[in-house]
Amino acid sequence: MAGIRGVLLLSIFAVVVARVLSYERPPPRKNLYIPRRRMLSSTSPEQVHISLVGVDQMRISWITDDEASATVEYGTSSGKYEFSATGTNNSYRYLLYKSGQIHDVVIGPLKPSTVYYYRCSQDSAREFNFKTPPSQLPIKFVVAGDLGQTEWTNTTLQHIGQSNYDLMLFPGDLSYADTSQSLWDSFGRLVEPLASQRPWMVTEGNHEIEKIPLLHSTRFTAYNARWRMPFDKSGSTSNLYYSFEVAGVHVIMLGSYTDFDPNSDQYKWLQADLAKIDRKRTPWIVVNIHAPWYNSNTAHQGESESDDMKKFMEELLYKARVDVVFAGHVHAYERFTRVYNEKEDNCGPLHITVGDGGNREGLASKYIDPQPEISVFREASFGHGQLEVVNATHALFTWHRNQDDVAVVSDSVWLKSLSSDAACRV
Ligand SMILES: *[C@@H]1O[C@H](CO)[C@@H](O)[C@H](O)[C@H]1NC(C)=O
Ligand SMILES: *[C@@H]1O[C@H](CO)[C@@H](O)[C@H](O)[C@H]1NC(C)=O
Ligand SMILES: *[C@@H]1O[C@H](CO)[C@@H](O)[C@H](O)[C@H]1NC(C)=O
Ligand SMILES: [Fe+2]
Repeated sequence: MAGIRGVLLLSIFAVVVARVLSYERPPPRKNLYIPRRRMLSSTSPEQVHISLVGVDQMRISWITDDEASATVEYGTSSGKYEFSATGTNNSYRYLLYKSGQIHDVVIGPLKPSTVYYYRCSQDSAREFNFKTPPSQLPIKFVVAGDLGQTEWTNTTLQHIGQSNYDLMLFPGDLSYADTSQSLWDSFGRLVEPLASQRPWMVTEGNHEIEKIPLLHSTRFTAYNARWRMPFDKSGSTSNLYYSFEVAGVHVIMLGSYTDFDPNSDQYKWLQADLAKIDRKRTPWIVVNIHAPWYNSNTAHQGESESDDMKKFMEELLYKARVDVVFAGHVHAYERFTRVYNEKEDNCGPLHITVGDGGNREGLASKYIDPQPEISVFREASFGHGQLEVVNATHALFTWHRNQDDVAVVSDSVWLKSLSSDAACRV
């Protein structure tokens, strides 16, 4: 009996192991379109999302169909709004499309690790709440790029929502609207349940450009209007790149689709930003880009945004002892060793691609063979990453594969901060 039970258990175990090791990737899933809620009035807020501004303020962004006040009322208990702040309205045109009123209000000062309740445009039918990030480590980031809006995106969002994260890092390619502006509205509605509760810090991907020769010559019209980030706080003059500090981490959001050569504003800004970092206050540096600098997938090889940006900027990041570089663009997951100038280097950043949020283009499943030695783990599955920065010296990165709608930890690595590594002192 015991023998049979043993065999049974063993074979169940074998099936489970085989299932995890040889996960069979499902095809792309249906696109989603999230319509405007019927119950909303024309001045009701929707597509609410928030982003961190400095260490103790939050930007609240939302859209109303008609003109409405750019006012946020907020407080630490539900229904009681002790504070109020007013911001700006704007809207944009794109071909025949005219956006709703896009409202932007910066509120604060706010207490760390505190839940605030808020309402927008004085609409009492919709109360939202968010939690501010901690002022000190530990802190938990989630990171996912190339989300789009499919049924896979929805499960990725569900997993992120269950992770108890403090802040979302989003290295580009948000809505995959690709000039259909109402898809930006749909995306805003899809992410609202999460993005209204925790700061979502984004940078742009190629799908944000939306320039059409002769018809719409301005780049990033929708992205800049809808997803304004706190670039001015870090001395940047462009919404396409910026930095911020949270808990003990200096986070840099670079722009792969704006100038990055040594004469560019972005390059000079990056130099100055890196020079200002105080490793006592922020022992960790995390960088986000859209187009990966290291990539052994056959997708997106040889692009200037990867190769030239790396050529120009890699040394800056290396000398500053950046700990991690997250990228998107390639619809798959890949983790490299610490690396600099194509070679393993204990003082270089860990490069991780998480372009696996679930968009309609599907997965990039062809890889260059043999696997380069610096590539530790590569897999074309949907999923998301989590970075738990535990203290000044230790952080845990985990990759959560979206396995038939279940998030399964499929790769994990402990990082030691370079600022605490005597061999990497500069
Ligand atoms: C925003 O729109 C409201 C309603 O029309 C108006 O009262 C307010 O002045 C506008 N605010 C700005 C900054 O334009
Ligand atoms: C997205 O997932 C949620 C569960 O988190 C589910 O309730 C909802 O119906 C899904 N939305 C769509 C449009 O499939
Ligand atoms: C930092 O966290 C790591 C991992 O939990 C732990 O081993 C280490 O002792 C911690 N260091 C300090 C100074 O608390
Ligand atoms: Fe991309």
